[in-house]
Amino acid sequence: MTSVRIVLTTEAVSAEHVRGTLCVVIDVLRASTTIVTALANGCPGVIPVETPEEARALARKRNCLLGGEREGLKPEGFDFGNSPLEYASDRIDGRAIAFTTTNGTRAIRACAESDMLVIASFLNGREVIKLLKEESRNILIVCAGTRGKATMEDTACGGMLLEGIRAGETPEAEEALALWNAHKNDLPSMMKNLSEHGRTLVELGFERDIEFAAHLNSYDIIAIRDGDEIVRKLR
Ligand code: MLT
Repeated sequence: MTSVRIVLTTEAVSAEHVRGTLCVVIDVLRASTTIVTALANGCPGVIPVETPEEARALARKRNCLLGGEREGLKPEGFDFGNSPLEYASDRIDGRAIAFTTTNGTRAIRACAESDMLVIASFLNGREVIKLLKEESRNILIVCAGTRGKATMEDTACGGMLLEGIRAGETPEAEEALALWNAHKNDLPSMMKNLSEHGRTLVELGFERDIEFAAHLNSYDIIAIRDGDEIVRKLR
């Protein structure tokens, strides 16, 4: 039978956990929300890389756009920051995006040896749950967290997935299910007022990003790794 595990930070991921599994990476504020939005708005591929320098080099080589953040803000010379609201179809214009963020792209990299990798957020939870229900491999849900600490929004999003597939017996899973159940009816207020990273984003002026990130199931899409890109899977 498929086993389902959840870890609450990228630091808790080890290569041995990841091998042979389907990894689900969550960074609600804001990397996974932004990746899903970019794909929904016509981006053919988001290419996660670790540093802004790597992203710039890739953009020169592959003629793609640049997106992401450092300290929450758009790095110099980038086309997009990490606000999902910036990723409108006319600005993406059908081009791939080299993408680097502080925690989200690190979590993706930590799962490099997985068999399959998908990106989850509140925006596309229903589709991810459908996919997980059909899965026969072991599943590892990776909440990116922030700088080594669990974040409420990633943990709650993990709880949403666990509830959807009716899994979760470890202490981490119980914590995730409890957070989801406690806050599912008011995710914006949890993220703006109780989440440390959410509060930082509010201070930086990104309150609207939080409201956007809290929309459940606005996109029926699966964001899945294909080679070195995250692409939209056609079902
Ligand atoms: C990250 O990957 O660290 C986040 O997406 C940061 C942010 O909110 O921009």
